[in-house]
Amino acid sequence: MSSVLRSVVTGVGSYLPENIVSNADLAKFVETSDEWIVERTGIRQRHNAAKGEFTSDLATAAARRALEAAGRTPADIDLIIIATTTPDLTFPATAVIVQRKLGCPVGIAFDIQAVCTGFVYALNVADGFVARGQAKCALVIGAETMSRLMDYKDRTTCVLFGDGAGAVVLEPGEGQGTTADRGLLGFALRADGTKEELLRVSGGPSSTGTVGYLTMQGGQVFRHAVVNIAEAVNLAAASAGIEVKDVDWFIPHQANQRILDGVASRLGLDESKVVSTVAKHANTSAASIPLAMDAAIRDGRIKPGQLLLLEAMGGGLTWGAAVLRL
Ligand code: UT7
Repeated sequence: MSSVLRSVVTGVGSYLPENIVSNADLAKFVETSDEWIVERTGIRQRHNAAKGEFTSDLATAAARRALEAAGRTPADIDLIIIATTTPDLTFPATAVIVQRKLGCPVGIAFDIQAVCTGFVYALNVADGFVARGQAKCALVIGAETMSRLMDYKDRTTCVLFGDGAGAVVLEPGEGQGTTADRGLLGFALRADGTKEELLRVSGGPSSTGTVGYLTMQGGQVFRHAVVNIAEAVNLAAASAGIEVKDVDWFIPHQANQRILDGVASRLGLDESKVVSTVAKHANTSAASIPLAMDAAIRDGRIKPGQLLLLEAMGGGLTWGAAVLRL
């Protein structure tokens, strides 16, 4: 058995803004109801960033908690990748702002834009840096202020999204090249630009010069989600050399409880293995997976050594899955 360099998750952390917005709060200014939102999505509340609180602030808070969990300090960090679709500024990258706020002296820092799939893409990219020996201690962060992209007159979208951030610390670890190794074991990433109009933002620096609002053809995205995610999960499992039934925990992107249930049942996974935070966090785009992972680690469900399956799907369309042993 040959030895291989694995990217091992050594710490996880997350942060949610203080301000909680319930379904009833939204129903005060848009024609909707708690009953409709809960029945169609499972969402009961979301956290919204305060005025003056930016994606970089959420990311920095999550990163500090992940560093603490890993027993590392900002001085150890030599790579920061942030998956976000709601950067503080068009440029510089939010990762660079976080590098400054954390006080990391040296290293590489950049953002990845793959919308809700961003965290899975970012993990795959960071894995390459670690496997080549280019990074010894990496922060991979999903951070979003989706509330800033909402048209609060559009009930078909504004009830679905929330703000938050989650972060993991990745460090190289010696493995044997088997599925018993700790670390990232397999990936599958996908994109289909022909479906771009199904889920997008109506503005941007090069087209309108404005930020724009999120628009979505929800029903169509829903249908693609269930089919595409199952395909990516099976590919990621094959690349890791595992069977889907062997995973201890399934940590999906948190868009809609009905999608989570549909995918789990398609994959033959019992609902007791599914980590769901959609009721409390709503859809936090690239932040949703590390937020859910952190919640289930901190409440003691996910334990070191367990096999985790992550998946996401979002604007692009993009989708993907990752398998890792904690
Ligand atoms: O993170 C990226 C991935 N995103 C997703 O995966 C989201 C995927 N899509 C979904 O989760 C669901 O399609 C939605 C939750 C967005 C919508 O659920 P749906 O069961 O597909 O509802 P629908 O769009 O077919 O709408 C049914 C009805 C419509 O009324 P009519 O045309 O039947 O009279 C909507 O206008 O519900 C109405 N509706 C609402 N009613 C009350 C839509 N939004 C609301 C609302 N409150 N907030």
